[in-house]
Amino acid sequence: MTFQLSEDHLMVQESARSFAQKELLPGVIERDDKQEFPKDQIRQMGELGFLGMMVNPKYSGGGMDTVSYVIAMEEISKIDASASVVMSVNNSLVCWGLENYGTEAQKEKYLHKLASGEIIGAFCLSEPEAGSDATSQRTTAIDMGDHYLLNGTKNWITNGSTASVYLVIAQSDVEKKHKGINALIVEKGMEGFTVGKKEDKLGIRGSDTHSLMFTDVKVPKENRIGEDGFGFNFAMKTLNGGRIGIASQALGIASGAYELALAYSKERKAFGKEISGHQAIQFKLADMATQIEAARLLCYKAAKLKDEGKEYAMASAMAKLYASKVAMDVSVEAVQVHGGYGFVKEYHVERLMRDAKITQIYEGTSEIQKIVIAREVLR
Ligand code: CAA
Repeated sequence: MTFQLSEDHLMVQESARSFAQKELLPGVIERDDKQEFPKDQIRQMGELGFLGMMVNPKYSGGGMDTVSYVIAMEEISKIDASASVVMSVNNSLVCWGLENYGTEAQKEKYLHKLASGEIIGAFCLSEPEAGSDATSQRTTAIDMGDHYLLNGTKNWITNGSTASVYLVIAQSDVEKKHKGINALIVEKGMEGFTVGKKEDKLGIRGSDTHSLMFTDVKVPKENRIGEDGFGFNFAMKTLNGGRIGIASQALGIASGAYELALAYSKERKAFGKEISGHQAIQFKLADMATQIEAARLLCYKAAKLKDEGKEYAMASAMAKLYASKVAMDVSVEAVQVHGGYGFVKEYHVERLMRDAKITQIYEGTSEIQKIVIAREVLR
């Protein structure tokens, strides 16, 4: 067992850190304010290889391990969680899902472009009446012989209007319950597919979250991922890895807030000395540092298990459950350390606090993570 990052990992960390400082930090407050998607920055992230980090180079990916991905996600999320959710969905849900379960033809057609960041993808599971209860899909994909006829609505879809490729989960045979669900690749521009309203969100406001509508969309049979009826299992397996991405995003939000609070505590003076000299602040900093370290170790462990081909569903749920709570707790404390300054946008911590909340909701709420963990514990 080693707790040291390798030279390669340190290089990834440095490259993500310097990109975030140079390219994401300027304008992050304005993008949050205006709900503006970081279009140019996402293009640059694609060029730097951050959008297909774990994909095999033969499909234009970076061929890196999941630990590298966690490290990069932490650095990007410290500065801009709106950019990191795009990165997380594209890497862990769309690219990973296609690389592991797609046909060779699907990989040739879509994966190269997704992994290189030429286009981005979206993962469409949630519906107005199927969030946590993901087996209750109302969107239907009826088998018409050579194609599926897709009808329904998806909600809260990250990259909703900016994606070019959508992995859509839909019910083909209600009698078979979750065994009758399929995962289909839908392209933007297919007739009957429309992007609905953009959500006005509490946090990650620079990201692009929409509802999507499908009305008699003809999806060719060759766009189905895996065997008939594999769609629900596909979604669950993909989300196990997705949760490592969101756990790392939460870790980055927490460490970003902590670093700001630490720096501020050394500058701000009260009662005749820097506030870092007061035990009330020292206790906060000590708690934050400890929680972040524990969250980081859970993220690294889940990533390492995945890289070693071992079972990681419980580890990824634990990482997400804990890191998202740490993101909430630490960002609230970071605002507190900043006092009145923490409440204004210029100091960044209020945004991190708002961004933290979604990490306890998407890719399974904290309660869902506990269900996943309890099942493994009781198995
Ligand atoms: N890993 C692998 N397989 C799993 C699994 C997991 N973690 N959880 C369930 N499965 C499999 C089961 O093994 C079972 O398969 P078989 O029938 O082949 O044995 C099948 O899925 C059905 O399992 P259950 O009967 O246990 O299903 P359930 O209805 O009780 O639900 C659940 C399980 C864990 C609650 C699931 O519904 C769930 O994870 N819900 C949360 C959904 C979610 O995370 N949504 C996020 C949307 S995506 C998103 O947020 C992206 C974004 O924008 C950032």
